[in-house]
Amino acid sequence: MKILLADDEKTITVTLGDALRAKGHQVKVVYEGLSAIKSVEEENFDCILLDLKMPGQDGMETLNQIKNLKPETPVVIITGFGTVDTAVDALKKGAYDYVQKPFYNEEILLIVERIERFITLRDEYRSVREMVEKSNQYGRLIGKSPRMLEVYQLIEKVINSDCNVLIEGESGTGKELVAETIHEKSDRRNHSVVKMSCSVMPETLIESELFGYEKGAFTGALTQKIGRFELADRGTVFIDDIDDMTPTTQMKFLRVLQEHAFERVGGTQTIKVDIRVIAATKKNLLVLVKQNLFREDLFYRLNVVNMKLPPIRERLIDIPLLLNHFIRKYGKDKHYEITTDTLVALANYSWPGNVRELENSVERAITMAEDTNILRKEDLLKSPANILQDKDILSLDNYIAQCEIDYIRKVFDYTKGDKNEMCRLLNISRKTLWTKLKEYGIEK
Ligand SMILES: Nc1ncnc2c1ncn2[C@@H]1O[C@H](COP(=O)(O)OP(=O)(O)OP(=O)(O)O)[C@@H](O)[C@H]1O
Ligand SMILES: [Mg+2]
Repeated sequence: MKILLADDEKTITVTLGDALRAKGHQVKVVYEGLSAIKSVEEENFDCILLDLKMPGQDGMETLNQIKNLKPETPVVIITGFGTVDTAVDALKKGAYDYVQKPFYNEEILLIVERIERFITLRDEYRSVREMVEKSNQYGRLIGKSPRMLEVYQLIEKVINSDCNVLIEGESGTGKELVAETIHEKSDRRNHSVVKMSCSVMPETLIESELFGYEKGAFTGALTQKIGRFELADRGTVFIDDIDDMTPTTQMKFLRVLQEHAFERVGGTQTIKVDIRVIAATKKNLLVLVKQNLFREDLFYRLNVVNMKLPPIRERLIDIPLLLNHFIRKYGKDKHYEITTDTLVALANYSWPGNVRELENSVERAITMAEDTNILRKEDLLKSPANILQDKDILSLDNYIAQCEIDYIRKVFDYTKGDKNEMCRLLNISRKTLWTKLKEYGIEK
């Protein structure tokens, strides 16, 4: 990174400058506020380290001017010992972080590393946003809400690696479509994407489907059968409703992830496969791990990348885009109208079945519209009474835990991770908060 180091203490500029250069950064040193501002005017820096106490001009004023010139450049403030108020002030004025003198160079190196990661993420986010800007979609995924942009950004990150992905999301949020998108965009696209759901299937059936079996492995095994892991060789395996996988199968599956090897049921020959695994669940798998309902080691193997798909009610601005998309899909070339009043009602509805439900609604409303070209609110929102299915129902404990996680995550975002503020708002002790953040993996 190109770094501007502004400090009037030679010992600092020399040792810190050297430490930064040793990490491969390019460092420009200035000794007073006005020169710092001049440099910022003339050049673009990735990051600025600014001593608040330098000759010439008040540090806060320097910070203000820098923020005006280059609002997006992260500025790390260096303050004197015991000047926490100043530091807090600086943070309010837009500083990225602060360190107090005397400091270890490592402290600054860590912050700079964090900034580097932050800049990479920010640039990736921008490039995804530009990609989606015109078409309103990414592959076959419609939507350009911030939550969906984050999903696309993660997909971009994983497509060129073989890492396993765990997709969590409510019913109908697009888990399968995301898995297909990852496959289609990856180098594995010319091989198969093989799917398997663990829900409502007896263990023995799942195992013979996944691993295959040898002739005579059990009564009825009249011929050899090639399992889905083998069929997916060099491609992708999508395991849906992974939370329903039984303990024995979980154990065998773990071995596939660790060694990329397994035996067919009733077989002795070890078969090697090259697969990328994408698993999906409607539940929060970590909660199941905590309750000993899912193997922890398997969870961590799967959870290398964790994608949380937002429900529709958390990405309202995508509703019109999705509507248009499905109107085009079901309405052929006919033009349909939706009144503002209807749009408002759609935005206020909770969409428990998410995109799938919305898709069904549009299809139904188009059918009901017959020869008019108006999609009526009553038709769009006439939901089947029992949208909740048995398999969607959680135990009360699990449900409460889910709510707790979602809520703590919201408050975490709201307070920008400020622990004191979180304790105050949630009215819990720091210890409780800490345990929960750790348990739910909220703080990254
Ligand atoms: N972002 C999206 N853009 C366009 N279509 C979508 C999007 N998300 C989901 N869909 C469509 O909605 C339907 C449901 O999606 P999908 O089957 O991927 O959801 P799911 O999360 O796997 O659902 P379930 O939890 O019921 O298994 C599919 O027809 C899919 O094509
Ligand atoms: Mg699905």
